[in-house]
Amino acid sequence: MDAPERALEVRAGEGLELRADHPLAGLLGRPPPCLRLAALPTPVERAAWLDRQDVEVWIKRDDQTSDLYGGGKVRKLEWLLANAPFDGAAPIVSVGGIGSHHLVALALYLRGLGRRLHALTFDQVYTPHVARNLGALISLDAELWSVRSRAALPLAWLAYHVWRRPAQMGVSMAPGASTGLGGFGFVAAGLELAAQIAAGELPKPATIYITGGSAGSSAGLAVGLALAGVGCRLRIVSAVERWAFNGLLYRRMLGQIVAALATYGLDPARLRGGAAALLKGAGVTWSIDHGEVGPGYAVPTGDGRAAVEHAAAHGLHLETTYTGKCLAGLEADLRRGGVGGPVLLWNTHGDNDLRRWIKDGWEARLPAGLRGRLDGLRGE
Ligand SMILES: Cc1ncc(COP(=O)(O)O)c(C=O)c1O
Repeated sequence: MDAPERALEVRAGEGLELRADHPLAGLLGRPPPCLRLAALPTPVERAAWLDRQDVEVWIKRDDQTSDLYGGGKVRKLEWLLANAPFDGAAPIVSVGGIGSHHLVALALYLRGLGRRLHALTFDQVYTPHVARNLGALISLDAELWSVRSRAALPLAWLAYHVWRRPAQMGVSMAPGASTGLGGFGFVAAGLELAAQIAAGELPKPATIYITGGSAGSSAGLAVGLALAGVGCRLRIVSAVERWAFNGLLYRRMLGQIVAALATYGLDPARLRGGAAALLKGAGVTWSIDHGEVGPGYAVPTGDGRAAVEHAAAHGLHLETTYTGKCLAGLEADLRRGGVGGPVLLWNTHGDNDLRRWIKDGWEARLPAGLRGRLDGLRGE
């Protein structure tokens, strides 16, 4: 086991009780256990390079949540990996594209805990970024069950459950780790931001931009901001098509998070009327922007690429599936005008260098079908 993994093992063993200074500690009567995987709070910083007219822009640096693998996913995994059914020794089986950040995060944190990931994957455009994620996934010993498209995922699911012996079957985790409890990571993130506003680290944002896929991050954030009484407008720039993320699914995710908060002892008076009433009472509004999806999930767009390049020129490393499209949405809205400022861009991408995990010859360990398709998937 090398240094980063050892560090993870030590932190995971520190104890699972919620720290007294954790943002959710004072709110939950019966807090569930929580691993300490992330370095929080993450900094907020000015991004004057994004300012437009009189709108000033700030960035929440969730790329700095961890030296092992940062971004938003670790906020969710802190909760999920500490609680049933994911807290045992069994492998976990989850779903994503071949370049999924969720699967890479899960593979890395599970490995630190001496456990293994079973990944049901679908093909996506094979950019150098996706190649690195896939190389890491394979090198970290994730077991891949690969199909061509999202539509064929039920097939992968069936094959996995037919071929895997029950004793070796993984415990199933929702795509993107977006469950009611996983959402606590971003409820806490909303409270964390509220504390930073109260401490004068940034002005209260009028509009927050965050990307959305499986909805747990943006829904948790809305609930956290509402609990903290930080009224603002959440602009969720979708990375996926309308059928995969929409108002209905977002409301469902909000409901799951609020239900989980009730289970763990949040004052019922605060949750009377459900998520909609909670958000309305605090002045938190939300809208979903599907204008940056382009031809589809994980297909790089010209605007997304331009946004990634613009950010890179200012030292911020984004990618073309989620955060590049989110920044493109923000820039488009600023150009059109009428955006309430100050604006905060929530950077959910962990840009840790994955090359240290990638083993030579990993391609040979890909499922044969996927190996044969990679050339045809190359997009950059
Ligand atoms: C970098 C990045 N940002 C945001 C998201 C989306 O978060 P959520 O699935 O909670 O909507 C993902 C999902 O994989 C991601 O990889």
